[in-house]
Amino acid sequence: MSPMYNRAMVSVHCIYASTSGHTEYVVDQCCDMVRQAHHDVKTRRAEQAQPEDLLKGDALILASGTWNTGGAEGQLNPHMHAFLRERAKDIDLKGKQVAVIGLGDDRYHFTCRAADHLEEFVRTHHGILIEPTLRIINEPYGQEKIIKDWAKTFLTTSSRLRSN
Ligand SMILES: Cc1cc2nc3c(=O)[nH]c(=O)nc-3n(C[C@H](O)[C@H](O)[C@H](O)COP(=O)(O)O)c2cc1C
Repeated sequence: MSPMYNRAMVSVHCIYASTSGHTEYVVDQCCDMVRQAHHDVKTRRAEQAQPEDLLKGDALILASGTWNTGGAEGQLNPHMHAFLRERAKDIDLKGKQVAVIGLGDDRYHFTCRAADHLEEFVRTHHGILIEPTLRIINEPYGQEKIIKDWAKTFLTTSSRLRSN
């Protein structure tokens, strides 16, 4: 059997919200790396996600930009807000392995708070954060090395968890 097939395959489910495309760009970069490592990846936009999607796969990635949802700055993207705070508010993540990606802009006082909201959601719904959150401040274009380094750590961590 080739070394490729000896490695435990990890299935990754990624749910994200993106309005101007920045979060989607970061998610695409990460997921491309995961696919290149021969793992299975599925992505779903928050507006189409159902609560049970949070439980699919060996590992979950949640990703959102920061918005002024409801008027106040420093909130989740409106689609992620509607998903996590309304439709999926009662989900039990049951020890699910989760990694978080947050985006923001340093022209706002509450920079990249979406990352904090996502982390809090994971903790309060009994998920396990498996690596430090990826925080992309300002446009992601030109920040590919940071994104890829984070994806490499994610791959290592999620593969190790899968084989345990
Ligand atoms: C209406 C609006 C409100 C925003 N509010 C914040 C904010 O409070 N804090 C922050 O860090 N960034 C804020 N941003 C910046 C976005 O989070 C940032 O541009 C992000 O990269 C957008 O990701 P997306 O294109 O995937 O939606 C805001 C952007 C817009 C358009």
